[in-house]
Amino acid sequence: MEQARRELETIRRKTSRPINVNFFCHQQARADPAREMNWRRRLEAYYVEMGLNDNTVVLNSNRSPFDDKMCDLVLEFHPEVVSFHFGLPDRTLLARVRRTGAKIISSATSVDEARWLEDQGCDAIVAQGYEAGGHRGMFLTQDVSTQVGTMALVPQVVDAVRVPVIAAGGIADARGILAAFALGAAAVQIGTAYLYCPEAQISPLYRQAVQDTKDNETAITNVFTGRPARGIVNRLVREVGPMSDVAPEFPLAAAAVAPLRAKSEMAGSADFTQLWSGQAARLSRKLPAEELTKQLAAETLEKLRFIETMASPDLLAQAAALATVSGSVFG
Ligand SMILES: Cc1cc2nc3c(=O)[nH]c(=O)nc-3n(C[C@H](O)[C@H](O)[C@H](O)COP(=O)(O)O)c2cc1C
Repeated sequence: MEQARRELETIRRKTSRPINVNFFCHQQARADPAREMNWRRRLEAYYVEMGLNDNTVVLNSNRSPFDDKMCDLVLEFHPEVVSFHFGLPDRTLLARVRRTGAKIISSATSVDEARWLEDQGCDAIVAQGYEAGGHRGMFLTQDVSTQVGTMALVPQVVDAVRVPVIAAGGIADARGILAAFALGAAAVQIGTAYLYCPEAQISPLYRQAVQDTKDNETAITNVFTGRPARGIVNRLVREVGPMSDVAPEFPLAAAAVAPLRAKSEMAGSADFTQLWSGQAARLSRKLPAEELTKQLAAETLEKLRFIETMASPDLLAQAAALATVSGSVFG
């Protein structure tokens, strides 16, 4: 909490512009010693291989959901936008956030989730497609096999809700941004592309992995935290996942993986490290965050202007004629 406070102080000191603070609002997992022991046993061979033993301290993960203390921070710093992942906090907490005047946003991975968020009073909704890096914001289902891709999700969410929709998942350049606007999105949320920026506070191992990864080298996995998230396929994902029935609930799965991660990272390996990344990592560019953002905006505007120029009445007539011809040829 103290770290969050220090970071918010720094951000407020450095800018007078509006800020967005993001929180996880999962249900607090109940400790389940039997399940955690099973998980530890599932990883036993790796412990042996790495010379870790039963005395290895396995710390409980302390990733706690949005609570009264975090809400106090919101009251203290008044972020203009407060966004949530995994649904929304309970009514009392949400009402406290709303009273600060902050705009409230959360992620939906289906039309049902988007409608639910709108009914609870969200001011905007992130439509998070299957391509997205990091944890899936899914909260009305646990079934990853039916999760929807960005191309299909965004227009269906746009049709279903009245609030602005922010497209997320697999967008990393001006083509993706333009496509999202064409699907009806009011804005885009880009995650993976910013991992290439020097400002991203990620380890050299992670940076290298994300720079090397290809379109078909990520998967949705629960082996790192207990909740489905998209990351680069490494040894743990390949051999234990990508989805494991043994993994304890979020965030408890992380505890038994932590010593493996620490030991293998010391040896220069990312075999047990969570390497969150979306499917479009290869479209990213190594630029400072500000420059990347400005380039993406400029390139999108340029493409929009080009389309406007192309869409002269003459060209539209030609396109219509072409459509008729191809319709008669293929129809
Ligand atoms: C490394 C990483 C960390 C993320 N952490 C969060 C988070 O803490 N909260 C959140 O709402 N979304 C988080 N996301 C998801 C993004 O907000 C967004 O939905 C996603 O990155 C969009 O897809 P893309 O990665 O293909 O750009 C994260 C994504 C990545 C890649």
